[in-house]
This record gives sequence, structure tokens and C-alpha cells, in this order.
Amino acid sequence: MAKYQIAWMPGDGIGNDVMEAAEIVLERLDLDAVYHHADIGWEFWCKEGDPLPQRTVDLLKSCDCALFGAITSKPKEECEKELVPELQNKGLQYSSPIVRLRQEFNLSINLRPCKAYPGNPLNYREGIDLVVFRENTEDLYSGVEFHPVEKEIMAFLNDHHPRMKRFAHHAPQDLAITLRIITRAASQKIIRAAFEYAKKHGYPTVTVVEKPNVLRETSGLFVRQARAIAQEYPDIELWETNIDAMCMWLVKNPENYGVMVTSNMFGDIISDLSAQLVGGLGFSASGNIGDDFAVFEPTHGSAPKYAGLYKTNPMAMLITTKLMLDYLGEADRAQQLESAIKRVISSGKLRTYDMGGSSTTLDVARGVRDLL
Ligand code: IPM
Ligand code: MG
Repeated sequence: MAKYQIAWMPGDGIGNDVMEAAEIVLERLDLDAVYHHADIGWEFWCKEGDPLPQRTVDLLKSCDCALFGAITSKPKEECEKELVPELQNKGLQYSSPIVRLRQEFNLSINLRPCKAYPGNPLNYREGIDLVVFRENTEDLYSGVEFHPVEKEIMAFLNDHHPRMKRFAHHAPQDLAITLRIITRAASQKIIRAAFEYAKKHGYPTVTVVEKPNVLRETSGLFVRQARAIAQEYPDIELWETNIDAMCMWLVKNPENYGVMVTSNMFGDIISDLSAQLVGGLGFSASGNIGDDFAVFEPTHGSAPKYAGLYKTNPMAMLITTKLMLDYLGEADRAQQLESAIKRVISSGKLRTYDMGGSSTTLDVARGVRDLL
């Protein structure tokens, strides 16, 4: 049996284009792996009413990790309209399969490195090397939402919190609630992962990014865990920054920061901001990592209008593939792949349209492969 069982999930749109790019480099790296195709995406929502069919979940359970392309999500009304007629009006609810994977497999660490590779014309500035650790399963993504807000829930909140009075006169359908749930356990886990990464890779600081001056309880709990865990890492300095100020600092002096750790929603925001500083979505790679399973995905969307045109920058996918190799303990292959990526970027000969060139997705992938 091969050493690794890897689920292969192109998903939708350009997901297929960029996964082909990953295939080209993985083939050359000669990883001892079997790749299992797994159904996921919009097509399965339309045909089966579930973008993440149970057979995919079962397959993933037998794999070491998964590589994922991209997925299409649409607003509520369109989801219903695109279902096959026999599934319409059955009360089926679309929910993002990637968010479900993160939660069902408890992939609580979202790792998003954003490095300005020298010579990338899209770098905001040279010398940026940011790594976002985003808690991946809770916070505003808990999925615990209410609309309409039933009378009993309003009454309960009213009884238990004085601030609720301000909202009490609204009719149930005129307000909506999403719970921000933060647990000590998940906070500790992501913070520890951030410190361990900083230690392993020699980053002098970890910045915890929250908003404890306003979100006293949730951000408060998160920041307290960071302070406690920081004690165990005397060589690494803990910086504390509010999310709003962090956005400003990242635009002003991004090179002053390295590892950042935060909760789910703030992590979603600063990871897009950080990605844009180093070339945008074409360079934004991520790992969703749990205790015994992980899903690796570029953070761009499925860009349906570019599907099959091979225009998409495959770098995000190739850097994602590098993260997967790191996760599997294939440090040599990971390092080889990253240095090939770097060389292709710095030589400037192969560039997709977003970088001002006219190379195709696969030209770039082959260029990287040829350096392996
Ligand atoms: C991301 C994306 C997802 C998220 C969406 C597609 C659900 O923005 O991975 O950052 O919000 O986490
Ligand atoms: Mg996002």
C-alpha cells in the first residue's frame, strides 16, 4: 500500500484548472501516494441537494489528508432555484462545504502563510512574511443563528441580560442573531500552534489580534489564553493588537509583523488583507489542520467565468501543495517545491495574466516542475 492516501477534490470552476497544476508537480515529486477522487461542490448541490455528499465524508475518513480546489457558493434564493425540480421546496439548506469540513473533522487550525516572494511584481513591498493562524471552527462561524428570533429566545435573553432590553420591542422577523462562541480549548489550541510555529521557524513575535476592549467576554477569553501560553515561550514576545488597528498596521508596516493568531472571523479578514499584500488571491494558500486529518486549499474562489480557460495563477495551489507536503512530514519535497516556486517567480519568465504575463496555468506548473 502507498504511504499516503490523499483525497483529491477539485470542486468547481477553476478548482479543476489549478488541481491539474498540482498534479503536474506532484507527479514529478514522486510522492508515494494514492489520490482518491472525491465529489464535492455545486454540481452535487444541484443534483443531490448536498454539496458534500456522505460518500465523500466517508472517503475522507479513510485518507491522511485532502487537497481541495475551489467551491462555488451562492445566496440563499439562487441555491433553491438551481436545485433539480424534484428537490425544490423540500426545505434543503445550502451550507458551505468547506466550513462543514472544518467543523465536522474538527480542523481547528487554519494556517495561512503570506510571503512576498522576491520579484513578484504584485508584492505590495518586498520583505513581507506574514503567517495567519486562524481558529477555524467556532466564533461567528459557529452556525448558531436565529431568524426569526422566537419569542421564548427573546424572553430568555431579556431575563438574563440587561442590555437586551434595547432590542426587546422588535418583532421576531425584524432582528437576527448570530452567536459568537469562543471556547478556551479551541483558543488554546490555535494559540499554541502559533507559538510552536514561531518557535520552529524563528519568528520573534506572535501578535494576538482581537478586540477585547469591546468584545470583553469572547475576545477577553482568547487574549487571556494567549497571555498564559506566552509564558511558556520566553523567547517569543506576545504583541496584542485590536483587529481594526491591525488592518491599519498591516497596510502601514507589514514587514514589522510575522505570526498572527486570531479567531475565525477576524482571521478571515486579516488573511485576505495579508494575501493582498503579497500578490492577492493568486498567492493565498491555506491548510485546515486537525489532530489526524487536514484539508489543504487555495483561498481563492471558483471564478466560474474562468473555468477551463487555464488563465488562473496556480501559485496559490502550488504553495498549498507545499503546505500539504509539510504536513505529511515530507520536508525535503516541500522545500524543493518552494524553492522551485521562488525561482519561477523571480525569473519572471512565466507569469499568468494577474502578474502581467500571458502564461497559462499549466505553463507555470510545468515551469515549476522542470526545476524539480
Ligand atoms: C476562506 C473563505 C471561506 C471562509 C468561505 C468561502 C466560506 O472566505 O476560506 O477564507 O469564510 O472561511
Ligand atoms: Mg476568506
